[in-house]
Amino acid sequence: MGNLIILGSQWGDEGKGKLVDLLAEQFDFIVRFQGGHNAGHTILIGDRKFVLKLIPSGILRPGKIAVIGNGLVIDPVALFAEIDQLTQVGVDAQARLRISNRAHVLLPAHRAMEKRIAIGTTSRGIGPCYEDKAARRGLRVADLIDPQRFVEHFDALAKEHEAMLTAFGIEPDYDLDEVRSQYLDLGARMRPMVCDTALLLNRAIRDGKKVLFEGAQATMLDLDHGTYPFVTSSSASAGGACTGSGVAPTLIGGIIGVAKAYITRVGGGPFPTEMLGEEGEEIRRRGNEFGSVTGRPRRCGWFDAPLLRYTATINHFDTLVITKLDVLDHLDRIPICTEYHGLDEMPALCGVLGGIDPVYECLPGWQTDTSQVKSWDGLPPAARRYIDYLEKQCEVEVGCISMGPERNQTIVKPGSNFEKLTV
Ligand code: IMP
Repeated sequence: MGNLIILGSQWGDEGKGKLVDLLAEQFDFIVRFQGGHNAGHTILIGDRKFVLKLIPSGILRPGKIAVIGNGLVIDPVALFAEIDQLTQVGVDAQARLRISNRAHVLLPAHRAMEKRIAIGTTSRGIGPCYEDKAARRGLRVADLIDPQRFVEHFDALAKEHEAMLTAFGIEPDYDLDEVRSQYLDLGARMRPMVCDTALLLNRAIRDGKKVLFEGAQATMLDLDHGTYPFVTSSSASAGGACTGSGVAPTLIGGIIGVAKAYITRVGGGPFPTEMLGEEGEEIRRRGNEFGSVTGRPRRCGWFDAPLLRYTATINHFDTLVITKLDVLDHLDRIPICTEYHGLDEMPALCGVLGGIDPVYECLPGWQTDTSQVKSWDGLPPAARRYIDYLEKQCEVEVGCISMGPERNQTIVKPGSNFEKLTV
């Protein structure tokens, strides 16, 4: 078994957190490589629900090292809220978390600046923080943990932010002196966890340790490959795992894509297979499709095979995990989008994608509760047929199915790439 990347293959919220938590047992390090506290990985263990936004889901497995890589933007207030929440339930997060000295630091000014961005973001300041990174004026963790450097850099950046906020006509909703002193305190708390995480991971790999890369958001929200400009500001595809961690592509042993048995999207942007009526409401209710970070209702749609073929190409998935199959249990017929009429590639322009005509194939439903099925052969024949059809349409094997939030509501297909990559 090699080092593995787990990625969302749609518009996010595919259930990556549960899968990472499940596989983490077999890895030594679990690494986040992009995004920030805009992600929300919900994991249910027994009757305890955890929503992790910044810390890799693998932290919930005793003894594992969780790494926040250089590709992230970190809001220290959000980070310590999460650490404290974990500590309260007995998870020794502080002892097992390593934070890259090259990750960027998110400030209240970034959140304030986001008020001018109207694409339905999570309003956490993620985009403006990455803007500062790309503009080469950003504040990094290495600055934050050095009090003198921090104060100098913070004060200089604050002047630039003030000018920008004035130009945008946005009134700051924070007190600069309070922020400076709060961040100085949090920087001191963070210091023992900070290191060169690229070096840490490369040394660990050299010593035979195994690394699991935990994607956040998904390829259709990737800054380069997603439905630009309705995307997040980081590289949520396979390449991002390498740039966001400092681990080379040749050290990656496999890439697992995660897809829902249908599809959802939060925020604005084109959505060819969106269900706008009662059917969509029913899926939203059954799948509890409300954002785990913002609580916003997610838009729901039918499985979109052309979209999956596109993300499978970008990431070269070895295997797919299909989640939330049980949400479709009630349907007597299930449409699947097999092509975009007259188009044989994913359009670069959102206006084109928004106007396409999806072609559907309808498969019979199974109308049986699948939530307790324990083996591939135990699935109702129509559910197996649905999965086989998705596999054929996506041109990637489906190696694992999840039918509920619990760890044990998961089936691995015997002999699949998934089994080979994870055992
Ligand atoms: P941002 O990441 O807050 O800048 O938001 C950009 C877009 O990505 C918006 O449409 C968000 O709803 C979406 N987004 C960001 N994070 C997630 C996520 O974890 N799941 C689903 N959508 C997300």
